[in-house]
Amino acid sequence: MAVSVSKKKSKQSKKVEAREICFSYSILINFFYRIPAAVFLLILIFLWSSSTTIISGKIIHVCVSSRKLNNLYCLSAGTQPNFDIPIPVINNSAISPSINGDIKEILNVVRDDLNPEIEKKVNADRKEEVANSVQAVNVVLDEQIPNAENRADKDENEAANAVEVLKTAQNNPNPDIREVEKGREVEIAHAKKVVEEQLQLHRSWKSSKNHPVCDGRGIYVYDLPSKFNTDLVGQCHDLVPWADFCEYFNNDALGLPIPKLGKGWYQTHQYSLESIFHTRVLKHPCRVYNENEAKLFYVPFYGGLDILRWHFKNVSNDVKDTLSLELIKWLEKQQPWVRNAGKDHVFVLGKISWDFRRNDNSPWGTRFLELSQMQNPIKLLIERQPWHVNDIGIPHPTFFHPHSDDDIISWQLKIISSSRKSLVSFAGAPRPDQPDNIRSILINQCNSAENGMCRFMNCSSGGCDQPESVIELFKESEFCLQPPGDSPTRKSVFDSLVSGCIPVFFCPFTAYYQYPWHLSTDHGKYSVFIDQEVVKQRKVNVVERLMKISPREREDMRSFIIYEVLPGLVYGDSNSQLEKFQDAFSIAMNNLLERVTRMESNAQ
Ligand SMILES: *[C@@H]1O[C@H](CO)[C@@H](O)[C@H](O)[C@H]1NC(C)=O
Ligand SMILES: *[C@@H]1O[C@H](CO)[C@@H](O)[C@H](O)[C@H]1NC(C)=O
Ligand SMILES: *[C@@H]1O[C@H](CO)[C@@H](O)[C@H](O)[C@H]1NC(C)=O
Repeated sequence: MAVSVSKKKSKQSKKVEAREICFSYSILINFFYRIPAAVFLLILIFLWSSSTTIISGKIIHVCVSSRKLNNLYCLSAGTQPNFDIPIPVINNSAISPSINGDIKEILNVVRDDLNPEIEKKVNADRKEEVANSVQAVNVVLDEQIPNAENRADKDENEAANAVEVLKTAQNNPNPDIREVEKGREVEIAHAKKVVEEQLQLHRSWKSSKNHPVCDGRGIYVYDLPSKFNTDLVGQCHDLVPWADFCEYFNNDALGLPIPKLGKGWYQTHQYSLESIFHTRVLKHPCRVYNENEAKLFYVPFYGGLDILRWHFKNVSNDVKDTLSLELIKWLEKQQPWVRNAGKDHVFVLGKISWDFRRNDNSPWGTRFLELSQMQNPIKLLIERQPWHVNDIGIPHPTFFHPHSDDDIISWQLKIISSSRKSLVSFAGAPRPDQPDNIRSILINQCNSAENGMCRFMNCSSGGCDQPESVIELFKESEFCLQPPGDSPTRKSVFDSLVSGCIPVFFCPFTAYYQYPWHLSTDHGKYSVFIDQEVVKQRKVNVVERLMKISPREREDMRSFIIYEVLPGLVYGDSNSQLEKFQDAFSIAMNNLLERVTRMESNAQ
């Protein structure tokens, strides 16, 4: 019997309808053996282009208000329920020629999504394709998609065809279809390879210096008109309809202190990174006030707050994009921006990349990162779009913001000697409406483990609202399960590492493909990986699997996490004076300076 550490304080009904998503190699492969690639692609495109229409606005609201924003301890970085990662077609030469031109065109649209012109041009075609594919999607996923049905009912033939194709594929996969499947497999392998190559490139910019070396490499911080940053903070009462965010902006956006956890602990909101980073960069030793002395240009646009305030209001897409476009206009008047076409500029965005990559069929988010002018600059984000090389993942902010080396050292000592009463814990919300969701399997396995072996903290019943309860749980656990949420990354990953709890990942996009500067390539040193497909097929009991890891191995991992990884994952407070350690902020800034230097020497 497991201990459910849930407070009985029930908030509003928290019915959640979100599909687990994670672009996992094995899921896809498994999927391919069941359906032909053509149908699969249509499904992908459909999900990608209209994921928000699958569910009603009401569900989005309930889901997000209850699980995400209102809850300090948020479960994952994504805020768009049912969000699916669109898989780019990086190399479609393997696609069988038997697939007709329309699908190829769609593929190209997906691939060339960056280009608004092309998108406009084929938009009409695509809409129709999407509508046609909806029936097929229904059949394949065997799900009720009421909104989608309305859009699709005009083409019954298409549906019948899809079923026919499906049956053929299931019962008697013919060589042509096999060929296509194989082609798609090759593409996915290629897509993964591209991600790895990008991370390799990011890692090549890692600075070997453990302190900022300015050396004439000045950082210029634009003094933007206040509508691009501080005015957005000023709207904190009204950012989301159901909560007041103002207290999160106390203490230079670290939030209110949590004395119970010790010095340096604050109720930090997971979307506060823009303010936190901005405050720090203004105090960076390499900061210059003359743009001609600068090599790196920091644009303190609070794009995450900008979109957050529109997510849950009924406004047009034009309204959502207004501030982004005004920013571009403003930048285009700045000499340094024009000089290198933005290549030496950097943005820090406190929400996930997908929130800035709206497509025409979805009302979610802005198009900020899809604008052609935004392709050159570096964007530091809590979750990167895995196929955009200028997206770089940096840690989600945790609740710990040390001021001094001593704050870090005393925390390290506290957690290295912490008594870990449970082998495993999971803090998260179940997704009861999603049979395909590994969270329910994990919760079941956790709840049926021997007494005290695994603890489940039910975030749906308010158990995770207090940061201290979550941190206490993680401090008392050896392993912390980190299944994907609405998007692959989770703030919880960083909370568990900071608590010395070894994270267990089920999807490579949760961490391995995200944080090249802050996490080691040697994943086994700080985490355990169990493929979520194996969990789904119930071929593994996660708790039993973790029991097999020897205490010695655990201690090695934990020491590595606490002494090597942890200091680089936290963002120091706004006046932090770290000397021995580099925090997440310094690592990011040093590497950005390193990259600028490389860019210069390449240009010469
Ligand atoms: C696409 O894949 C084929 C064969 O797998 C390869 O020869 C070709 O170079 C690839 N093209 C690109 C653009 O990567
Ligand atoms: C949103 O606004 C539009 C235009 O003002 C209106 O037609 C629509 O009914 C509104 N939708 C909701 C859900 O309020
Ligand atoms: C979690 O809490 C919710 C809300 O109180 C409840 O409906 C659900 O059954 C709980 N789930 C588990 C697995 O305990």
